[in-house]
Amino acid sequence: MYYPEELIEEVRMKNDIVDVISGYVRIQKKGSSYFGLCPFHNEKSPSFSVSGIRQMYYCFGCGAGGNVFTFIMEYENYSFPEAVKLLADKAGVRLPELEYSEEMKKKEGKKSRLLEINKEAAKYFYFQLKSDKGQIGYRYLKNRQLTEETIKRFGLGFAHVTSDDLVRYLRSRGYDDELMKEAGLASFDERMGLHDKFWNRVMFPIQDINHRVIGFGGRVMGDGNPKYLNSPETMIFDKSRNLYGLNMARTARKNHLILCEGYMDVIALHQAGFTQAAASLGTAFTAGQANLLRRYTEEAVLAYDSDGAGVNAALRAITILKETGLTARVLNLEPYKDPDEFIQNMGPAAFEERIGSAENSFFFELRILEKEFDSKDPESKTRFHREIAKKLCLIQEEVERENYMEATADKYHIGFDSLRKLVLSYAARTGLARPVERPRSGISSKSTPEDQAKKSQKLLLTWISDMPSLYPRIRSLLSPADFTVELYRKAADRLFAGLEAGECNPAAIISLFGDEEEQREAAALFNTRLAELTTKAEQEKAFNDIVYAVKKHSYDHYSAKLGSDVEAISQVIAGKKALEELSKTHISFD
Ligand code: GTP
Ligand code: MN
Repeated sequence: MYYPEELIEEVRMKNDIVDVISGYVRIQKKGSSYFGLCPFHNEKSPSFSVSGIRQMYYCFGCGAGGNVFTFIMEYENYSFPEAVKLLADKAGVRLPELEYSEEMKKKEGKKSRLLEINKEAAKYFYFQLKSDKGQIGYRYLKNRQLTEETIKRFGLGFAHVTSDDLVRYLRSRGYDDELMKEAGLASFDERMGLHDKFWNRVMFPIQDINHRVIGFGGRVMGDGNPKYLNSPETMIFDKSRNLYGLNMARTARKNHLILCEGYMDVIALHQAGFTQAAASLGTAFTAGQANLLRRYTEEAVLAYDSDGAGVNAALRAITILKETGLTARVLNLEPYKDPDEFIQNMGPAAFEERIGSAENSFFFELRILEKEFDSKDPESKTRFHREIAKKLCLIQEEVERENYMEATADKYHIGFDSLRKLVLSYAARTGLARPVERPRSGISSKSTPEDQAKKSQKLLLTWISDMPSLYPRIRSLLSPADFTVELYRKAADRLFAGLEAGECNPAAIISLFGDEEEQREAAALFNTRLAELTTKAEQEKAFNDIVYAVKKHSYDHYSAKLGSDVEAISQVIAGKKALEELSKTHISFD
């Protein structure tokens, strides 16, 4: 932690969350909370709530949530210490100067050392671009029409042909060889010793949503292979959970985000004013990235390469986006290959038009599918119509399905009634996709046992922090060790310790996590949506189910570890006893 915990708590308590958020978002009192339009995603009806009692905010639409520090971090794109500083100044709390002594650097942990070495490398590459030896790289970028400002904004750099100058530079700055290797900046072989991973390439630093450099992409000068070389995955570089340019795109405040394939595409788009563009990191688009996008938008406009590979990548991305609950449209770049080329040739106004006319993803899929069939051959045409019907079956909501049926019938000149019959006959065979009925306890039966365990652990924490009076009834049956997810256990540890001392302060627990991602997850722990349970009997039943589910999972978890974990045995014994007791008792709310 950067500052003493008590000091962080003092700053937090002196900044009432309702006051602070009111300065940024218009919120109105409704019941015990305040509601407004969520500043972190685009919405028309308010699902963003702020609770003065709990000193937390939470958006039921996009899942953004946390305490007053988290809000400032997300809204201002600040790091945790920066948010603490801003709020301390506001409340007149004096903070000690942060000193990064050699000593502290060692202590800060692997993660921050990796971030630090990446930042140092990015600075070095940027500096090289401006040096004599970097002229080739600089000219290359200029040739690709990048302005000085763009180069600076994206921190572009150059790694020249010498094979170990970054290594030597980093050594001179006191970094050890091991860390360079671990960061993926250098590798070792018998012949060359420790040498740079990147050389003769223009360098694209890859930043996370908090603008921290987590890795690099490097484009070779000329026709070398591979064209783009990317940092390997490290402790801080997860390619499936970050997007290039999202750190800037997320504050563009458009009603959509543009998703493209290449770093150069993102840069060209930002330079042309489309700051809502981001790209995946040299690998296929993933569900983790879709989840990340969903925090900031409800619609992705795909600007993938117009060749066959790009079309296939777009089809896969559409499936993932839809599964995550985002809508997708596909932008047509013809006759150009990628957004960069399109902008160079046609300019921003034409691109804006293409955004406006981007195709609905369903019709894009049908248009691609159609190519596999021969519309002149009745047999083939029928098969195409069957495929259409199958796809229509997948649309869950009835109104939406009807609308799509109508539009499809129109577009492909199929009689509406015969299309509907076809859809119904498929539905009869395979069943129409129906929204999963949620059991009343809120634990879905469709997910994996792990998901269910996580969900019930979350629900339990929300429940206890909402109704602290329940704590005395479960304290002999449950302990923080029953929370099998590490982050949940840490949160439970604090919550329970507080409750032992007679206080319930979930907002303080969030500050324990320095990382924005972890803070978000911690905030969600105390804000899991409880099912709408009307009667007290229903509520009691659900609560009992959840306590039992958490205990049972913990018991199974530790049973599986018997023999390899010395603590497991006592957990298993206690678990067995508690489960027996739980099956006999009923925890009542009175
Ligand atoms: P330019 O030729 O510089 O305009 O690149 P581009 O963006 O048009 O490149 P392309 O469509 O070939 O690639 C798009 C993205 O795929 C790049 O930004 C990289 O992230 C990734 N990529 C391209 N080539 C390679 C490669 O050889 N290896 C790896 N790992 N990734 C690549
Ligand atoms: Mn290109």
